[in-house]
Amino acid sequence: MRNIDLIKRDLKYNWHPFTQMKDCLSFPPVPLEKAKGVKLFDYNGKFYYDTISSWWCNVHGHSHPFIKKAIKRQLETLEHTLFAGFTHLPAITLSEKLMEVIPGGLNKIFYSDNGSTSVEVALKMSLQYWKNKGKRKRNKFVSLDMGYHGDTVGAMSVSGRGPYNSAFERLLFDTLQIPTPYCYRCPSGMDKDKCSFECLMAAATIFENHHEEISAVIIEPILLGAGGMLVYPVKFLRGISALASKYGCHLILDEVATGFGRTGRMFAAEHAGIVPDIMCLSKGITSGYLPIGLTVTKQEIYDGFYAEFDEKKTFYHGHTYTANPLACAAGAASLDLFKKEDSLFRAKMINKKLNCFLNGLKDAPYAGDVRSVGVVGAIEIVEDKKRKKPFDPSRRIGMEVYTEGLRKNLVLRPLGNVIYFFLPLSVKENELDDIFERSLSVFKKVFK
Ligand SMILES: Cc1ncc(COP(=O)(O)O)c(C=O)c1O
Repeated sequence: MRNIDLIKRDLKYNWHPFTQMKDCLSFPPVPLEKAKGVKLFDYNGKFYYDTISSWWCNVHGHSHPFIKKAIKRQLETLEHTLFAGFTHLPAITLSEKLMEVIPGGLNKIFYSDNGSTSVEVALKMSLQYWKNKGKRKRNKFVSLDMGYHGDTVGAMSVSGRGPYNSAFERLLFDTLQIPTPYCYRCPSGMDKDKCSFECLMAAATIFENHHEEISAVIIEPILLGAGGMLVYPVKFLRGISALASKYGCHLILDEVATGFGRTGRMFAAEHAGIVPDIMCLSKGITSGYLPIGLTVTKQEIYDGFYAEFDEKKTFYHGHTYTANPLACAAGAASLDLFKKEDSLFRAKMINKKLNCFLNGLKDAPYAGDVRSVGVVGAIEIVEDKKRKKPFDPSRRIGMEVYTEGLRKNLVLRPLGNVIYFFLPLSVKENELDDIFERSLSVFKKVFK
């Protein structure tokens, strides 16, 4: 099969996500035939390093025999069923295995099928909890002004406002937005080494003024992904957690991107030693083999819904593919692999090499800022380093990096002016060396 024929057939019917389809005339989608480990292969046999783990979800590498075997085994007995009125061993097993790794105190799991829905569930759970408790006034959410929590209406509402959601403005509900601790471009104009966490003070003021109306605060712990791979200080996260606890509001941690080893710990919350009231999980659970979403909460919140039927406290939410047995089997296998392959230890090796590469870029004229945590590393590129002036969006510098990356066997998919790596935990040392060498040659070509 030829790439070119497949592209024609694809573009006849398919409408791709986050894509201006007219761009496909010049930058058509790459038809992939297969994948193995950290490499994707097209129909011409060309390989591409999957440096962003296929949108941040591939943890243990593609085509891992252990996960494939678990899915195939499950396929022999039960591929799908409804999860209301029925249950199955794959969901029971996955929940039990999760309990071994999830922060203590979280012990009730509500299944769904993707990251955005895990967030929708968290918001609705928090809101209805307060209603069930007779505290209807608690109906607002606090969120970061550059956060990203997904593309459904609730998830967009608690995300930062920008090009991703401006077309849907009229659908979105207002939130109490706090400034993002974007240290390179500090919202309070402070210097990273000298700041007094002014952004946290702004958050404190919002909590102080509105605490009686706040249902929950939602935040991506340690790393804001789609907001620009912004790694922020643990102290900020601890501060937000302390404010939520002081004023009795729920703390929702969106670990959809950060969960399952990506920040070097199983969950990013562990860096701050905090336990949220609600945690959202998806992406890495199945290592990217099948879709699933989880909203994990505490007994106290669960108990807020536990009542006689006619008390009208039931949580009316659900999705057809909730707790799909194949996905649950993949998730359980993926968790086993963390132990078998000592994946969190591997994350340390990756982090070391990643930092070494990023530090080497610090003096490059185009590298405004470099930042990293765990297996995630980012370079914020600028046109004028001294003034921190970004490239004009019309230049579409990210697109140049992307296309040059493909030529050099790399999937680099910048977020605006931020080039990043979101590596699988299974990537090998020699592969990393090759990825970084190829990346350097991409940067040299684009920023010559
Ligand atoms: C932190 C975070 N939350 C939620 C989502 C939405 O997940 P999904 O794309 O599976 O709906 C994403 C996706 O990138 C994310 O990074």
